[in-house]
Amino acid sequence: MEDTIIINGLTFEKYLKAEVIAERVKELALAIQKDIDVDEWTFVVLLNGAYLFAGDLLRQFRKDVEVRFVKLSSYHDMESSGSVLFDKRSAGQVDGKKIFLIEDIVDTGKTLEVFTSFLREQGVAEIKLCSLLEKPSNLQYKVVTDYLGFSIPDLFVVGYGLDYNDRGRGLKDIYILQKS
Ligand code: IMP
Ligand code: MG
Repeated sequence: MEDTIIINGLTFEKYLKAEVIAERVKELALAIQKDIDVDEWTFVVLLNGAYLFAGDLLRQFRKDVEVRFVKLSSYHDMESSGSVLFDKRSAGQVDGKKIFLIEDIVDTGKTLEVFTSFLREQGVAEIKLCSLLEKPSNLQYKVVTDYLGFSIPDLFVVGYGLDYNDRGRGLKDIYILQKS
C-alpha cells in the first residue's frame, strides 16, 4: 500500500502529509514574525532532525536572520538514551543573546532541558523554542514550547527530517509507527 513504508522491517503509516506540514510551517512563521523582531534573535537549529523544518521555516521569514547549527544526539533506535551529547563550542558565543531554538520533536524533554540549562549557564538573555512536534504524554521535564506545530501521540515517527537509525529523514511526509 502506498500510504505505508517499511524501514528496517517496521511498518509506518502516513500521518501528516507534506501539504499539511507546509501549511502549518507558514502559520508558525507568521505567528513568530508577529510576536518578535526576528532579526534581533539568533536562530539555533538543533540537528539532525530539525534540518528540513528549519529550512522551510526560515525561508518564510521576510527578513534575514542569524542562523547557527548545533548537533545534539540522544536517541538510539526508538528509545531516548538518557544522555545528551553535543559539542559545547558549536553554539558559538551566546552570552547576552536572544536565542531562538528550532527543534524537530520534544519527546521526554531531556534534550531541551540539557541544552537550555547550558545556554543559561552561558548567560543568554532570552530563550524561545519552536518545535514541529511534541509528544505531550511523554514529557518528563519542564519544557515550554512557545511555538508548536503538532501535538502527536506517543508513537515513533519518521520523515521530514526525523529518522529511525538514520533512515526516513528525506521523506516529504511524516509517518507514524503502525500499532501491532
Ligand atoms: P527528548 O530528549 O526525549 O525530548 O528527545 C528529543 C529528541 O529525540 C528529538 O530531538 C528527536 O531527535 C528524537 N526523537 C524523539 N522522538 C522521536 C521520534 O518519534 N522519531 C524520531 N526521533 C525522535
Ligand atoms: Mg532533534
